[in-house]
Amino acid sequence: MRIYKVKDYDAMSRKGAAIIAAQIISKPDCVLGLATGSTPIGTYKNLIAAYNAGDLDFSQVKSANLDEYRGLPRDNDQSYYYFMYNNLFKHVNIDMNNTNIPDGMNPDADAECARYEEVIKSLGGVDLQLLGLGHDGHIGFNEPNDQFDKFTHCVNLTEMTIEANKRFFASIDDVPRQAYTMGCGTIMRARKILMLVSGADKADILYQVVNGPVTPQVPASILQFHPDVTLVADEAALSKF
Ligand code: GLP
Repeated sequence: MRIYKVKDYDAMSRKGAAIIAAQIISKPDCVLGLATGSTPIGTYKNLIAAYNAGDLDFSQVKSANLDEYRGLPRDNDQSYYYFMYNNLFKHVNIDMNNTNIPDGMNPDADAECARYEEVIKSLGGVDLQLLGLGHDGHIGFNEPNDQFDKFTHCVNLTEMTIEANKRFFASIDDVPRQAYTMGCGTIMRARKILMLVSGADKADILYQVVNGPVTPQVPASILQFHPDVTLVADEAALSKF
């Protein structure tokens, strides 16, 4: 694992965007695995700025997002479709037909998970997977569990995740209890992984992810087994190292 320690959230966002930009420039038709949450917002802003400066072209880029809440339609302002459209896609020249996000409205969970795995396969796999980190060590919505899930699946969100994500909803009762997410196996099949982590509240879990045992109780710890992971984290997040 390559670790870049940067000063703060803004520096993390600039470096994160530079790594993604390098991927797009070196392979214009690459497949990006994209993430939501507050962590990548600054990275997306920097990518949009690079696009506006004429330095980046998304016209051939394809994307596959990590996850989506189950039961939220695309036009719900908390859906990850809405997030991606408003924080990145509508600002750049990506072809929306080349963007992929699990369909939170498909009531047939097994069919949706199988469909999404097939989509990723048909794209030829993910070249660069962007990841944030949940407070309980989750990646995508792979919550602490007794085993690592190999494929896209439907999960019950933990109380900690519901609590952490309630800030985006009118009340905690509005937070969906389930989500579709790529499995840890799906994530591990990406050729390269870029994890971004910011803030003192992630310091303990980030230490466990990188230095602790590899265990499905800390889902992100599986990244220790991936041959090409770049971690960009700020001083606060790396304060326990
Ligand atoms: C959500 C997402 C994750 C994300 C995590 C951390 O649960 N499903 O993909 O990494 O939250 O979010 P934040 O970046 O807001 O701390």
